[in-house]
Amino acid sequence: MKTCGSYIIRGGKKLEGEAVVSGSKNASLPILAASILNNGITKLYNVPNIHDTKVMIEILRNLGCKVKRVRDKIVIDARSVNKQEIPEELMRKMRSSVILAGALIGRMNSATFSCPGGCDIGARPIDLHLKAFENLGIKICENTGYIHCTCDTIVGEKIHLDFPSVGATENAMLVAVLAKGTTIISNAAMEPEIIDLQNFLNKMGAKVTGAGTNEIVIQGVEKLKDTGYQIMPDRIEAGTLLCAVATTGGNLKLKKVIPDHLTPVIEKLKECGCKIETTKDTLILQAPKKLNSVDIKTMPYPGFPTDMQAILVGMLCTAKGTSIVVENIFENRYKYTNELNRIGAKIMVEGRTAIIKGVRKLGNGTVEATDLRGGAALVVASLRSNGKTKVTNIEYILRGYENLDEKLNALGANITKEVG
Ligand code: EPZ
Repeated sequence: MKTCGSYIIRGGKKLEGEAVVSGSKNASLPILAASILNNGITKLYNVPNIHDTKVMIEILRNLGCKVKRVRDKIVIDARSVNKQEIPEELMRKMRSSVILAGALIGRMNSATFSCPGGCDIGARPIDLHLKAFENLGIKICENTGYIHCTCDTIVGEKIHLDFPSVGATENAMLVAVLAKGTTIISNAAMEPEIIDLQNFLNKMGAKVTGAGTNEIVIQGVEKLKDTGYQIMPDRIEAGTLLCAVATTGGNLKLKKVIPDHLTPVIEKLKECGCKIETTKDTLILQAPKKLNSVDIKTMPYPGFPTDMQAILVGMLCTAKGTSIVVENIFENRYKYTNELNRIGAKIMVEGRTAIIKGVRKLGNGTVEATDLRGGAALVVASLRSNGKTKVTNIEYILRGYENLDEKLNALGANITKEVG
């Protein structure tokens, strides 16, 4: 994504104050897609106004839905869905639009879409999605880069996922909701966003149980009903704000957060020397002047989340000592480290392992965002360094963060946005 927006970050200041966490991007996208399953009207609240949700809404409109946003409420009228093909240019804009395949097959018994290209963090195949569809009796044929899925009736079946893929789990759930009979997904992903999807589907009248465990059971129903649903808070945005403040030795009160979703991140921040107190929906962090180094291994939930890997590394660049990070989920999720090294970080990458030698401070200069979380890592690291850092290609960051610069400036940061 070649783009022209930049952040100019003048770092070196301690951040302190309060911030409110926005709705979850990774819960909103599958739930927006799932609204197609109801031949009626769905109201969603707390959907973040970010690039990726805008693209998802554009695709829903392209498929014939009427969608309108009134502040943080989105109203989707899916009665006029009249297409089952996701346009290639929209698939390319956001690979997670593959989740619409499950919704379209669930509603129309067919879907056509282009292979969602890889992206900056890896090849990101969809073989597990397609295998799950085939288990449910869906015929799949691929030609000239397009995948055509069709079936007469969807019959509930046992599905075993070779890997607890979040997207494949979500797609299998969506196809099974209106199927004949019962579907059991084993080795399912256990992320909180899967629980949010289950809660939404059940509010529409589906019969789904087990989300949050590695076995999800979906009893097919005849039809769904109109409903309203509040999206869960974004645990990765919450983690990003915590790391941004911790990098500067500051303090933060996070509101509208679910601390239970952040346990592995909270444990690592405590190992770094942060003091953390939590209630049901708030989290208070007090960081030390200088953080300790820590070792991290990313794992499927409830392990340490891969989406927080880059952001923790951005924070650890100026910690005391050496940190070792192993990325076990995506094969190419260290591109951002070259950019951090350009402003004085000392990071060495060997395959899936990154070794981060803490430095006293980062210099300043110009760095380029290469993906969503890698871009956020550059912002976090720049907050510690005195002087001025320019982060370019910020459209990557705008894909997943609602007003990140404004939230950080409200805590005392000095970030200006430059277009062009
Ligand atoms: C979801 O992506 C998230 N995106 C990602 O967040 C997150 O990093 C990822 O889950 C892991 O937690 C959304 O929810 C929109 P996977 P997804 O299928 O579903 C391999 C962010 O920054 N795999 O769990 O695409 C895959 O290559 C984004 O917000 C297959 O091999 O992730 C990867 O190595 C980035 N075959 C691993 O599994 C498949 O059919 C995990 O992928 C599917 C996946």
